[in-house]
Amino acid sequence: METLIISGNADLSTACEILNNGGIVATPTETVYGLAGNALNSDAINKIFRAKGRPNDNPLIVHIASLEMLYTLVEEVSDDAQMLIDNFWPGPLTIIFDAKPNVVSSNVQAGLSTIAIRFPANEIMQKLIEKCGFPLAAPSANLSGKPSPTDVKHVICDLNGKVEAIIDGGSCNVGVESTVVDATKNPVKIVRSGGVTETMLKKIVSNIENKEMNSTSLDIKPISPGMKYKHYSPNADLTIVQGLPEEIIFTINKLIYSHQNLDKVGVLLPEEFLSNFTKVKTFNLGSMENLEQVAQNLFAKLRELDEHQMEFVYTIAFPAQEIGVAIMNRLEKASGKSIIKGFLE
Ligand code: TXA
Ligand code: MG
Repeated sequence: METLIISGNADLSTACEILNNGGIVATPTETVYGLAGNALNSDAINKIFRAKGRPNDNPLIVHIASLEMLYTLVEEVSDDAQMLIDNFWPGPLTIIFDAKPNVVSSNVQAGLSTIAIRFPANEIMQKLIEKCGFPLAAPSANLSGKPSPTDVKHVICDLNGKVEAIIDGGSCNVGVESTVVDATKNPVKIVRSGGVTETMLKKIVSNIENKEMNSTSLDIKPISPGMKYKHYSPNADLTIVQGLPEEIIFTINKLIYSHQNLDKVGVLLPEEFLSNFTKVKTFNLGSMENLEQVAQNLFAKLRELDEHQMEFVYTIAFPAQEIGVAIMNRLEKASGKSIIKGFLE
């Protein structure tokens, strides 16, 4: 299949026509790129699962561009959900509701009675939904198991030839996926950390529980089906070192020199640390003082590890606060939970 690349500045009628005819289109959002299809069309949804190689028991987020659209999809909006909507939509927050039965195509919900909904802030995505007039189901536009795409070049790399079109909206400014909260539960539960932090949520809904599964184990039944899959895995063996800066520097150096050949060894670190590692390839995550920037860079840098055929890469544990929670969740998955405590000799 020939994939059409559409400029984000273009009028989006071609993209709409493709979606109208049951085709699938990758599109920017403020978090990561999504692979969109008409949520009411089961053929389109099947195409999404096929193009990504996504297991079909993993439900998709449905994207809307108005509250009227929300009311066509869900049974009830609780008071807590309404407060979250008022404060965080449009934006990087996905809310799970009880679905109205038989509205979206059944493969969107993967057999669940609930539905995950997001009203994205990105203007291209909003315009696309408005122009189409139907909700768009869209998982992240990466091949399953790859980091989510935060730049159009990542989408082209993963999906060129597999989808009808890709809309070029440059790079995404949040860089990690939306936070997912389950509003069918009382108290509301955070099931995936992301662009909206727990502190931000708690200012609006004080009684909120964090039930995120940071485990990649396949045995436990996860609340959010997607959490059981190993995501964001670079080919390199990634190790997270936890501790004070001097412990981190000492330990990573020790680990680096345990390898015979340094050509395939790298460090994925905030810029403040990089001058301590001159003998190996360095991947700059941005400043420790600006974790939003680290979040924005993270997936692109994980992809770069593979581009440079790294085999062993060392990174650090970021403070698990604010957006650091989402960063650590992604890094833990990318490392397969390989975390060690830094030491000094
Ligand atoms: O920022 C984002 O959320 C991006 C952009 C494109 O909007 N989308 C995204 O989609 O990250 P995806 O499919 O990669 O992740 C959706 C997550 C999965 O973990 C899935 O299991 C969960 O949301 N999910 C979807 N519907 C659900 C439901 N009804 N109940 C629980 N979890 C659900
Ligand atoms: Mg994804």
